[in-house]
Amino acid sequence: MRTLTGIQPSGQLHIGNYFGAMRPAIEAQARGDCFYFIADYHSMTSLTDPAQRRAHTLGVALDWLACGLDPAKSVFWRQSDVPGVTELSWILGTLVPMGLLERAHSYKDKIAKGISPNFGLFAYPVLMASDILLFDTNIVPVGRDQKQHVEMTRDMAIKFNQTYGETFVVPEPAIRDDVALVPGLDGQKMSKSYGNTIDIFGEEKAVRKKIMGIMMDSRTPQEPKPDADKNLAIQLLRLVAPAEVAADHENRLRAGGLGYGDLKKVLFEHYWNYFAAARARRAELAANLDHVNRVLGEGTVRAHAVADVVLQRARKACGLA
Ligand code: ADP
Ligand code: TRP
Repeated sequence: MRTLTGIQPSGQLHIGNYFGAMRPAIEAQARGDCFYFIADYHSMTSLTDPAQRRAHTLGVALDWLACGLDPAKSVFWRQSDVPGVTELSWILGTLVPMGLLERAHSYKDKIAKGISPNFGLFAYPVLMASDILLFDTNIVPVGRDQKQHVEMTRDMAIKFNQTYGETFVVPEPAIRDDVALVPGLDGQKMSKSYGNTIDIFGEEKAVRKKIMGIMMDSRTPQEPKPDADKNLAIQLLRLVAPAEVAADHENRLRAGGLGYGDLKKVLFEHYWNYFAAARARRAELAANLDHVNRVLGEGTVRAHAVADVVLQRARKACGLA
């Protein structure tokens, strides 16, 4: 069972990325056969500053390793170091109907926000399909927002197999209901592009300020709150605190007597403790970049070994080789 996922180096990673994609990916290491990469080609659809791309790429590498990606168990590389993925993307692009790409939610959302689309943004799901199919992937851990992209990948694999003969493994998304959509500080989906994030490795003062600034309603602390389960701070507390702590605060909010300020303080403390060990590991890694570069270098070699075989299989199937 091969597990694969990627994250774009398009900004600081946040706890939505962590709970939606990284933690399930890290837990999957217990089963073995894991492939994780930094999607730097994809980041080109939104970011055009080379220095920023380099900095975020290093940041994402440090974040993954600090959060528990174990190079002894997982292959970890930078997408652009295995450039065959762009060739497969071309091949898949010749089979994918325009209509399928036009229906992509993330593409439509970006256009709706007034972003003027380039070809890369339109072709984004084809490159993502290529990432997945190039490694004979079975399982793709992602947040709910990426479900459609994995479904499109399945469509492309099936279409290729029908056209040119059995070549690709048809993958499945792995989406965990409890963390499929982590809300941001404004209650919308937490996203780098919405400015509503709690970063995994945010600076203490800044994150405290952000959490204490979460907007709540104007009910007094004493008022009972029958809708306590929907409270944003409670939803976030469930992620970073033990279940009984989150349940206890939810009950106290429901009964009345717990003020929002105190609740937010508790949320900050649990967030800070939850990532404390990873924060220390990240600082060690940042002081030892040779190690990080070596991990990515070795990952590139191992990723190539798989990708080259699959790409040759695909080339042969469609009469290129
Ligand atoms: P962003 O929306 O912040 O740019 P990405 O698109 O880079 O995040 O997402 C990287 C991974 O993190 C994907 O698997 C995505 O589904 C997951 N993810 C992003 N935001 C959330 C969220 N708010 N809740 C759950 N998973 C998320
Ligand atoms: N599109 C994904 C995102 O924005 C990143 C990504 C690129 C990815 N290639 C992938 C995720 C392959 C899973 C598998 O979050």
